[in-house]
Amino acid sequence: MGIKKSLLLLALCISCWAAFCQQQRIETATQGQVRVEFYLDGQGRPTYSVFYKNRPVILPSNMGFNLAGADDHDDGFHSGFEILNVKTKELDETWRPVWGEVSEIRDRHHELAISLRESAGARRLLNIIFRVFDDGVGFRYEFPRQPRLNYFTVSSEVTEFNQTGDHKVFWIPGDYDSNEYPYTTSKISEIDNRKMVSASTEIAVRYAPDQYSVQTPLMIKTSDNIYINIHEAAQTNYPAMQLHVDPRSMKLSSSLVPNAVLQAAFLKAPTHTPWRTIIVSDKAADILSSKMILNLNEPSVIKDPSWIKPMKFVGVWWEMQTEKSKWSYADKLDSLSASGGLIPHNRHGANTANVKRYIDFASKNNIQGVLVEGWNVGWEEWFGLWKEDVFDFVTPYPDFDVTELQRYAKSKNVNIIMHNETSGSATNYERRLDTAFRFMNKFGYTSVKTGYVGRIIPRGEHHDGQWMTNHYLRTVQKAADHHVMIDIHESVRPTGLQRTYPNWLANEAARGNEFNAFWDAGNPPEHETILPFTRLMGGPMDYTPGIFKLKGYAAHAPTRQLHSTLAKQLALYVTLYSPLQMAADYPENYEAHMDAFQFIKDVPVDWDDTKILEAEPGDFITIARKEKGKENWFVGAITDENGRNAVASMSFLPKGKKYVATIYSDGTNGGWNINPEAYKIEQFIVDSTKTLKLQLAPGGGAAASVVPAGADQVKKIKTYK
Ligand code: NOJ
Ligand code: CA
Repeated sequence: MGIKKSLLLLALCISCWAAFCQQQRIETATQGQVRVEFYLDGQGRPTYSVFYKNRPVILPSNMGFNLAGADDHDDGFHSGFEILNVKTKELDETWRPVWGEVSEIRDRHHELAISLRESAGARRLLNIIFRVFDDGVGFRYEFPRQPRLNYFTVSSEVTEFNQTGDHKVFWIPGDYDSNEYPYTTSKISEIDNRKMVSASTEIAVRYAPDQYSVQTPLMIKTSDNIYINIHEAAQTNYPAMQLHVDPRSMKLSSSLVPNAVLQAAFLKAPTHTPWRTIIVSDKAADILSSKMILNLNEPSVIKDPSWIKPMKFVGVWWEMQTEKSKWSYADKLDSLSASGGLIPHNRHGANTANVKRYIDFASKNNIQGVLVEGWNVGWEEWFGLWKEDVFDFVTPYPDFDVTELQRYAKSKNVNIIMHNETSGSATNYERRLDTAFRFMNKFGYTSVKTGYVGRIIPRGEHHDGQWMTNHYLRTVQKAADHHVMIDIHESVRPTGLQRTYPNWLANEAARGNEFNAFWDAGNPPEHETILPFTRLMGGPMDYTPGIFKLKGYAAHAPTRQLHSTLAKQLALYVTLYSPLQMAADYPENYEAHMDAFQFIKDVPVDWDDTKILEAEPGDFITIARKEKGKENWFVGAITDENGRNAVASMSFLPKGKKYVATIYSDGTNGGWNINPEAYKIEQFIVDSTKTLKLQLAPGGGAAASVVPAGADQVKKIKTYK
């Protein structure tokens, strides 16, 4: 070898080493106890890991995409990168949500923005933006404007969330069309959703082709008591991310809900994905108080939100769920009376007189809304036919007097809530949206509940895919244009977009209280102790609590019963946060227990402050919240199938000030299956030095209002020991 050749080799070695070092260069960002690390591995693959208190919580995990290439071949966009640029930024600011669990939210984070370029070939660009908060990490991908990537199709995303062990997880199947499952608690290695999917026959549409996939928000607990929550924020123009689980390696990886042509997303640069979120703490309570997902969403686009008002509502609803009345007006569409009209079966719930009964009850009891389902024509043949033209959203049944009800509701200072069931035919709804919202404006409806029961049209699309994600947002935007608040059932689960669109008050997108009416299986007592750690992480749920009559509805299903006590139903108004809370039972069932109903009358739906006092997913939750703009506090404590003594320290109260605590708790020796409707109500004087000990029966709960005491009350009411 000549000297020239040796020198060349040496130079080559040095540049290889330099390249290797550059590839291994670790970029980091830290906030408090949370750190993210990023590097390109030997193949130029973007790789990140997350640490909490210097311990790994996400092991090195790959990032990137497969794009749809020519001839249906995957065009890898996940390796062969070099780093072009790294930028860091810090932010610490406080903002005020239009409504919420707290009136001020601090957004403090470190941002690490990595610009990548393919080092060969098309030299396409990809940016990865990390934001590190005190309570976790969010990251998203940005596709900058560039010559070789303009309109493009994502066939899959390869983002991984590699776990450090075979942790405990609280999961539901990764179904493309439904979130209405009970939770399974298992090890990661035990995840297999087949049994659950095939047993859940009560769900209208189920489609979970990957037995090893789970829905997000996914709640994880490690054996050394670290709580990890994986979800996403600001999911727009992109399908929902589910997680595929490798039961051997503990690798979780992004699995996007496909569209009708089996691709994930059609995009155009410049654009970006939703944020992928990892919330972490060694305290379960911190997971519930995290505002990271809201912080990763954009500020409100509604400049004057004065028309947006959180509210409680009752409704012509539970009577249909329990089969006392019906949504439909007639049994058959094709047998008509001599005059050519439908032949009424006389069990139609949404008739003018019955709606007035609910309006009267609402107006007497500090309830602002009355939901009316089954008011419009179409319910005779609405479900399971996969037909496109189902409802027109403007034609009432003959016994529902729109004008008279508008007058009556107004005179009683109550709002009727519009109901637009689409039966999954989103195309039909989109064509009629303008007309539907104009109808609402004309007849004074300030809010709407929508729903998507059934297979989606456009046929082949799924509830959680990109097309439907865009559809839900279009309806929210249209609603905002018309100053209408919206609550969407059977939608994709929320990802904090309610910050940007505060007229989007709630979603269902989980197994609601209604399952306790449909079927014997219902919801197990632990269900509501898991929901806040999973589904509610992305936004409020219209769970429809407040059932007082817990069994004995349908004669043909005598064993049907809620797995709850009456006191637990009260506690849910505090533990399941929503700016829209239904008092779901019949007025007559409340009238039988007006002393307990007092709590529902008093409890607000908008808060200045929230204290998570105790929490463990699957077992129990105790929360105290302060009413917005008032000195009143409300406490809710719930348990799973085990009885327990909840403790609620009153240390959040201002020192030296006396309060009256009215405590609603389970009747003694009861439980969800023995005497569930028994309750007791006690009053005490408390102050910040007291700690309430609340006895919860199996499947039970307790609720309390804590309001400033007048001088005579301090004299009359006994002090809490
Ligand atoms: C399912 C919804 O969750 C429920 O609340 C509604 O009553 C029915 N669909 C009918 O729209
Ligand atoms: Ca449990």
